[in-house]
Amino acid sequence: NEGKLWGGRFEGGPSPELEALSRSTHFDWRLALYDIAGSHAHAKALGAAGLLTADEENELHRGLDVLTKAFTSGRLHPSASDEDVHGALERLLIEEVGPEIGGKLRAGRSRNDQIATLFRCYLLDHGRAVARLVLDLVEALADQADTHLGAIMPGRTHLQHAQPVLLSHHLLAHAWALLRDVDRLGDWQDRVRSDSPYGSGALAGQSLGLDPELVANELGFTGSSANSIDGTASRDFVAEFAFVCAQIGIDISRIAEEIILWATREFDFVTLHDSWSTGSSIMPQKKNPDIAELARGKSGRLVGNLTGLLTTLKALPLAYNRDLQEDKEPVFDSLDTLTVLLPAFTGQVATLVYNTERMAELAPQGFSLATDIAEWLVREGTPFRVAHELAGACVRAAEAKGTDLDGLTDEEFAAISPLLTPQVRLVLTAEGSVESRNGRGGTAPERVREQLAELRDMSTGH
Ligand code: ARG
Repeated sequence: NEGKLWGGRFEGGPSPELEALSRSTHFDWRLALYDIAGSHAHAKALGAAGLLTADEENELHRGLDVLTKAFTSGRLHPSASDEDVHGALERLLIEEVGPEIGGKLRAGRSRNDQIATLFRCYLLDHGRAVARLVLDLVEALADQADTHLGAIMPGRTHLQHAQPVLLSHHLLAHAWALLRDVDRLGDWQDRVRSDSPYGSGALAGQSLGLDPELVANELGFTGSSANSIDGTASRDFVAEFAFVCAQIGIDISRIAEEIILWATREFDFVTLHDSWSTGSSIMPQKKNPDIAELARGKSGRLVGNLTGLLTTLKALPLAYNRDLQEDKEPVFDSLDTLTVLLPAFTGQVATLVYNTERMAELAPQGFSLATDIAEWLVREGTPFRVAHELAGACVRAAEAKGTDLDGLTDEEFAAISPLLTPQVRLVLTAEGSVESRNGRGGTAPERVREQLAELRDMSTGH
């Protein structure tokens, strides 16, 4: 059991089959720098508790620095016999500073509190990177909204024409959802940062007089775990992170679906930029929205990572169980997925060309101004129930005549009801309709301009 973290009570070494199953270095090696940071902090705690002389502590810091340098220059690797990142780094540290001093670092800590702490550190760092990528996408949407202030499109419910809205209003709806994801990451971060498990030991805490708050401070936490069992056995911080990644995927998939639909010949609302679309190996004319499709597809993978993780966590007895080692790969995958997906997606969104003429032409079609007739009648003093009926009758008449609402003559309106005077025409344009929706959050141009400023304000605050 040379170089192993355990072995004293075992007569023989582990079988190769067990080793193959148990090994996690192929995925947890990416945590190495975080484990080393934890070791620096732990060495300080050991020093502060009088368990290391100043020289010994310095020697450990030196050895850990050597490992850091080797890691960052790509020269540090686990060996086939290393079980996990913790064991590998202890072995490598001992190779550097010798067993006498290197063997002292493990006192008062367990891989259980180690992994629970450093996985938090890793996710905190990478969560910030994801937040920045999401903010880039928010900015791309805001820029497109800015460029197209004034452009009107058909707003839809049930995918049917509903009421005209500003294209900018629509784009900003996606931006707000994404900004909430960034907020979620912020809330999550505050919770995770207050809870450093170092000092929890295997599950029951430690008996060596170490100061968990010292370690917590060193690692950038604002506090340490109040309960060592919870500290070592809880992975809700991982599940919550996986959820936010999945939600980002879901939010992006909704934009993606729209891009795919809008780029069809039937919709013809957008044209994809050549550099952000793909061709076909057989059909020379094709220009495909592959980025959007991959985004839509990968959202399934992000949801899968979350559900897989939750299933692993379900009904696990306290405290640490080896099942918990399965918490890493799904979240690493979610992070890796978003790290390649978001920049590509942002590029596609930023370079989309909108066919605003076609959007404007379609905006008033499909009787999308019927609500405007009803609300005009209300403003003229008609109860809404009656107004709704009358506007519905206008739709029926227009449909029978094969025109849109503005194709009805003054006489035809009057025949439906004397309340429908020629003045009704004033609201029968998409522009008039949009301008009239001028309450907070509405689609009137002045409101959307305010909304855009509000969004930009909030996103730069992050
Ligand atoms: N590699 C493990 C994990 O990721 C940590 C080690 C704990 N192992 C143990 N036998 N207690 O959860």
